[in-house]
Amino acid sequence: MNIVILGGAGFIGQKLAIKLAENGVLRGQPIQKITLCDMVEPQNQIQANFPIQFTQLEMTDETSVSAAISDDTDVIFHLASIVSGQAEADMQLGYQVNLDGMLHVLKRICQLPKPPVLVFSSSIAVYAAQTPQPIEDHFIRSPQSSYGTQKVICELLLNDYSRKGLVDGRGVRLPTITVRPGKPNAAASSFLSSIIREPLVGEKAICPVTEDYRHYFSSPRTIIKNIIHAAEIDAKDLGGDRNLMLPGISATVKDMLASLRNVAGDEVAELVEFKRDETIEKIVLTWVSDLNPERALELGFYQDESFDDFIKAHIEDELS
Ligand SMILES: NC(=O)c1ccc[n+]([C@@H]2O[C@H](COP(=O)([O-])OP(=O)(O)OC[C@H]3O[C@@H](n4cnc5c(N)ncnc54)[C@H](O)[C@@H]3O)[C@@H](O)[C@H]2O)c1
Repeated sequence: MNIVILGGAGFIGQKLAIKLAENGVLRGQPIQKITLCDMVEPQNQIQANFPIQFTQLEMTDETSVSAAISDDTDVIFHLASIVSGQAEADMQLGYQVNLDGMLHVLKRICQLPKPPVLVFSSSIAVYAAQTPQPIEDHFIRSPQSSYGTQKVICELLLNDYSRKGLVDGRGVRLPTITVRPGKPNAAASSFLSSIIREPLVGEKAICPVTEDYRHYFSSPRTIIKNIIHAAEIDAKDLGGDRNLMLPGISATVKDMLASLRNVAGDEVAELVEFKRDETIEKIVLTWVSDLNPERALELGFYQDESFDDFIKAHIEDELS
């Protein structure tokens, strides 16, 4: 089983590689090799019983994408993308990385001797906030951001190339993943991790929206299990629509801070200061806050239990 992770140096890419190295198998087959492809070098040295190699990748360059995917590739996890805030600020770059990049991947896949499994990381940004919620599985996708639009187009490409038998595609719409370790990033959702992560290490954090702001979340642990599950399920169970929303939990900022208070105490929770930012608000208010992922649950995808668990898991995985 030869695996390629596009965006392998990123947050999810690194956690996925660590989990796959630990498991040693995917789709019932021993893993022989993982190739992490990214424009930057991965920061972690991952221990595994098989080689984990790095290949420099530029998603906007067809030749680079083609070189990253070798003929013997069985499974590709496509996680390389620029995030929501950046795709909104630089629309052309967003289309080059997020859309042209996907077309380069699909073009290369058509040259492989055997159609690989392609797991594509889509987003709940494919839905719009003005629709009735919870969003049901077959609800029409109507994004209100360039990032969401790029994800929808990629989902449709995944369906079409799968229908033609050129790839075995599986698109998963990721909820916002919290708590994201490390530094804030250019995602408009970045504060949804900062308001937990920074106070836990004694630092102040700014919340740019009101405490009533509601959103849909998953934890890093659950998302990694679900991305692996997406590669493992039987293609025939997916039918014609290869894309599905992943389970998450719906919570307000107030709920999140109540959990922070429960798990870490009042002093920690009081390190969060509210200061409205209209640019961020304008993006995040277009996002949905509640979904009903029946199809994913029927297919055995995993569900987080409570926001308290998100915080406890972050402390165990990142701070101990
Ligand atoms: N983290 C979340 O909350 C979340 C939510 C919904 C969807 N997603 C999707 O999941 C995927 C992974 O997200 P993440 O949180 O790990 O993001 P990340 O930014 O940590 O990782 C993305 C990786 O892509 C690489 N990349 C960006 N542009 C590139 C280019 N031009 N060429 C080559 N590599 C490039 C980056 O260097 C980075 O390592 C993305 O597709 C993202 O849209 C994430």
